[in-house]
Amino acid sequence: MNKNIVILGTQWGDEGKGKIVDCITKNASYVVRCQGGHNAGHTLVVNGKKIILHLIPSGLLHNDVIGIIANGVVISPFDLIKEIKMLEAHDIFAKKRLFISNEAPLILKYHIEMDIAREKKLGTRAIGTTGRGIGPAYEDKIARRGLRVKDLQNETKLSMRLEEIVDYYNHQLVSFYKHKSVDYKIILKNLLPAIDVIQDMIQDTTQILHQAIKDNKKIVFEGAQGSFLDIDHGTYPYVTSSNTTIGGIISGTGVGPKHLNCIIGVTKAYSTRVGNGPFPTELFDVIDDHLSKKGHEFGSTTGRKRRTGWLDVVSLCRAIKINSLSSLCITKLDVLDGLDEIKICTSYKNTNTIKNILYPNTINDWKNIIPVYETFPGWKEKTLGIKKLEDLPEQAKNYIKRIEEITKISIDIISTGPERSDMILVKNIFS
Ligand code: GDP
Ligand code: IMO
Ligand code: MG
Repeated sequence: MNKNIVILGTQWGDEGKGKIVDCITKNASYVVRCQGGHNAGHTLVVNGKKIILHLIPSGLLHNDVIGIIANGVVISPFDLIKEIKMLEAHDIFAKKRLFISNEAPLILKYHIEMDIAREKKLGTRAIGTTGRGIGPAYEDKIARRGLRVKDLQNETKLSMRLEEIVDYYNHQLVSFYKHKSVDYKIILKNLLPAIDVIQDMIQDTTQILHQAIKDNKKIVFEGAQGSFLDIDHGTYPYVTSSNTTIGGIISGTGVGPKHLNCIIGVTKAYSTRVGNGPFPTELFDVIDDHLSKKGHEFGSTTGRKRRTGWLDVVSLCRAIKINSLSSLCITKLDVLDGLDEIKICTSYKNTNTIKNILYPNTINDWKNIIPVYETFPGWKEKTLGIKKLEDLPEQAKNYIKRIEEITKISIDIISTGPERSDMILVKNIFS
């Protein structure tokens, strides 16, 4: 029995993880965010109503589910409160069933200023971050100087530590980056009322999860970002600052691998990437227009246009290995409706030597590859909202079958629209 399920992105984020987490959490008791922060944007569409979550786990829309923001997540208290209020405006009351880890690092004003200052200085070499302070907050954690949620519980100590850290940041912001400074007293003044709001939610979330496991409860672990934005396995330096692959789920929660019963990788039926960095199958033609418009490919966090491309099965195979995936979920199949032909990239060649290369390692290697494609006939029928595999057009079924053949792993879920119910459950993953 697949009791605990992990949902991970297999591309560069925005694969539709939020929708899938929302769908499968209806059969679970807990839903957990494990890494990343409010750089994530997970979109849920329920009865035509669109809700975008950045920090709060997507399964929390089911009102009998308990949400956890675990120790691996970098938390901006202000953005957390904003999101709780946004949900309340939708009649979803999260506060009493949402717990945040006392060990989670905090994102504060100086992280955001540093993120912005760094990107500005990088100029044409900018990463294209979301500007949410994610990188600097994780740097503080690794450097062992960061403030954590538990530090909010002692005002005197908090004030002292803040003064020290802000002093350190202001040196860099002003002297090196020629950026504006920040004032620790203002940060503290704003923080104190926020502490009152989140106080009761602060817990040892690892302990809560271990108790849930002991009580035989079902847990859904929600990945953020995608495998190739991973700090170790992604297209470095054009990555985010956390482990977005399976290791991030384990270190980010304190739950060991034997309790992760099923690891599902979510992939779009094509590819997108927001921000800078390598993207071998990127398109710049009318197909980009089609995918962009039909798929509404604009960032849910920053509103930026997402770059689009064909599905890259070479990278997908890599993601399957890195994450030990049990199966795949394909989303946005309906976006391919109406195309004359569809391509998937099945290998890479080196531009100069025209020899096959298994997988590029450096940014320079990435610049020197050309994708080799297999081409399929498209379909004219509408797949939007289809709920049974047998109702898909033959060409769509063949497309899915070929991906399964190459990746040697089964596609257990097919998403056919943004609505919660637009979905083909090929296999009941909870059984
Ligand atoms: P996440 O970050 O992985 O949760 O994905 P995002 O929410 O950032 O982006 C996915 C977008 O695609 C959202 O606007 C979803 O509403 C939408 N979406 C998800 N699944 C489908 C699908 O099967 N078909 C279509 N047309 N849209 C989908
Ligand atoms: P979800 O969970 C897509 C990208 C940014 C940038 C890089 C580093 O919605 O899939 P950061 O602000 O994290 O330092 O930016 O990572 N990025 C995402 N791209 N989806 C996301 O999250 C992302 N989170 C970060 O665009 O290229
Ligand atoms: Mg997203």
